[in-house]
This record gives sequence, C-alpha cells and structure tokens, in this order.
Amino acid sequence: MKDIKIESTLTVYEDYNELPADIALLMDTASKARLKAYAPYSKFLVGAAILLDNGEVITGNNQENASYPSGLCAERTAIYYAGAEYPDAKIITMALTAGSQKQPTASPIPPCGACRQAISEYEVKQDSPIEIYFMGTSGKVVKSNSLANLLPLGFDRSFL
Ligand code: THU
Repeated sequence: MKDIKIESTLTVYEDYNELPADIALLMDTASKARLKAYAPYSKFLVGAAILLDNGEVITGNNQENASYPSGLCAERTAIYYAGAEYPDAKIITMALTAGSQKQPTASPIPPCGACRQAISEYEVKQDSPIEIYFMGTSGKVVKSNSLANLLPLGFDRSFL
C-alpha cells in the first residue's frame, strides 16, 4: 500500500477591495441576489452570480421551504437556471456571497458539498474550469481556479 497526498491551491484576497474590477462587479451582482434570498427559516442568505462565455450573467439565491429539504441552495438555483436557459454556454466564473441575518459573516463561505457536486457536473460537461470566488458579507475572499480544487475525488460521468 501507499499513501497519496491531495493538494489544492486557493488564492486568498484580504478583502473585496483587492478583487479585480470585473470580479468585484460580479460579486456586487451576487450581493444583490443575496439580499433577495428567501431564507425565513435559517436567516442565512446566499447569493450567486454566474458569468457565461456569451456575456450573460445569471443570478440565484437560496429558496427555503417549510419542508426543509425541499429548499435549494443559491448555487444550484443559479447554475440550473444557467443550464436550462443557455445549455450551450460555458460557465467562466461564479461569485458567491453568504451572510447570516443573526450575526456578521466575515469569513469566506464555501459552497456546500451538494453544490460542489452540481457545479462539478457542468465543469465536466463543458470540459473547462469554472473559477469560483466566495466570501461572507465582508472580509477575505477566496478564489478557486476550478471546482475540482474544492472537490477532490469527485464522482463524474466517467464512472458510469
Ligand atoms: N445554502 C446555500 O444557499 N448554499 C450553500 O452552499 C450552503 C447553504 C443555504 C441553504 C439554506 O437555505 C441556508 O443556506 C442554510 O443552510
């Protein structure tokens, strides 16, 4: 037997003001989407903005439900709409921002495991990396050059 080591490199920006101008704008769009989230149960609002290679920007936010598991995360709300409306477009960048209405959220909030799996599907489908930036409502912003950095040993179509 042998051990294997899995490494990912992420970029950390000290705060929003360090972001490239185009990414800051995409993050602004994600923030606007976050403020429209429907999260009466968790009070945790998440916004996503997706830049496509055709120039379109798709947004989404979390949509909760009294039957809790029926709700959907912001990332999947956005990416499924992008896939539905622009099935042939490639996703270039996703900007994500999340914040609690109960306390300040100053640390970067990564996408949950189910959302990573969903994003991975589109990265495999389009055969090119999806850049992901994520933050709280303030503080550091983390960038991953590819979803694969966030989901090592992912399950994909090659196993089917
Ligand atoms: N949520 C997201 O929208 N994205 C994630 O990646 C993690 C969690 C939402 C789901 C739920 O509405 C709330 O945040 C609390 O879990």
